[in-house]
Amino acid sequence: MLNVLKLGHAEFEVKDVDRMAEFYSSVIGLTETGRDGQTVYLSTSVDHHSIVLRGGASTPRLSKLAFQVGPAGERELIEHFEGNGFEAEVRTGSQPSINKVVRTQNPDGVAIELYSEFEPSTHRYSMRGVNPLKLSHVASLTPDVNRIVKYYREVMGFRFSDSMDDFFYFLRCGADHHTINLLSGDYAAVQHFAFELADVSHISRACDALAREKIELLWGPLRHGCGHNMAIYHFDPEGLIIEHCAELDRMSNEGLGYFDPRPYHEDNPQYPKAWNPRAAIAVWGRFPPPELFNTGVSTAARGMTHGD
Ligand SMILES: [Fe+2]
Repeated sequence: MLNVLKLGHAEFEVKDVDRMAEFYSSVIGLTETGRDGQTVYLSTSVDHHSIVLRGGASTPRLSKLAFQVGPAGERELIEHFEGNGFEAEVRTGSQPSINKVVRTQNPDGVAIELYSEFEPSTHRYSMRGVNPLKLSHVASLTPDVNRIVKYYREVMGFRFSDSMDDFFYFLRCGADHHTINLLSGDYAAVQHFAFELADVSHISRACDALAREKIELLWGPLRHGCGHNMAIYHFDPEGLIIEHCAELDRMSNEGLGYFDPRPYHEDNPQYPKAWNPRAAIAVWGRFPPPELFNTGVSTAARGMTHGD
């Protein structure tokens, strides 16, 4: 089975790469670590790039997710994907700091890259803007949620953390409650992506940093039920939805099979389960505004807006 250790970076095709890079650098507080024509690399800390922006698109879209895996030979990785019916190839020198990747594609057409070795970045946190700790998770709309959940669980080796009924799944590859969330939709697209902040005071400082830049919060602060993360949401300049979260549930010990106990948990112990959407969406805080979950979201999932 594939041993995915963490989400390394996400790549987005965007319309105006200069404007977007300026936003992610000055407002979010990422460090620009490289630029090659229309491609800009931005980092939180350890990885050379947490986000890659590629300019020239007519509409912004998620084009790639890259994951660090445990020690594995390229041949072994390729055979794993081919054995599961997916084409895969080795690419060398395609980006800074990661010399060799195995590249494949998920069933929704997003490129997946796996690597086991990389050159860590030497820059420190920017201490600018939101200044997140790391890229936390990526949530995607998908026209066939069962097919893509099966892919991440059986081919990528992710584990089930929680779901809202049968239309919104939260999967983990490490201790964090979710690295990938998959939401039933009319088509495949990124729904939102999230940065991890340290704690509630960091969320508060993020709100202040965003307010200073006149960026309105779309949703939150709130505490989710599913994953129990505190969260705020806002748009980036091209309409991608960014979440900043803290206190996301963690399963430090997979052998125990439940999430590390917290005072706000509903269950004791808090095992992975299928949630009622109303309880899952928020422990406290308002339900999401229509603009967050109405575009491309399936009818069942749209009920989340009203807590049905
Ligand atoms: Fe999220």
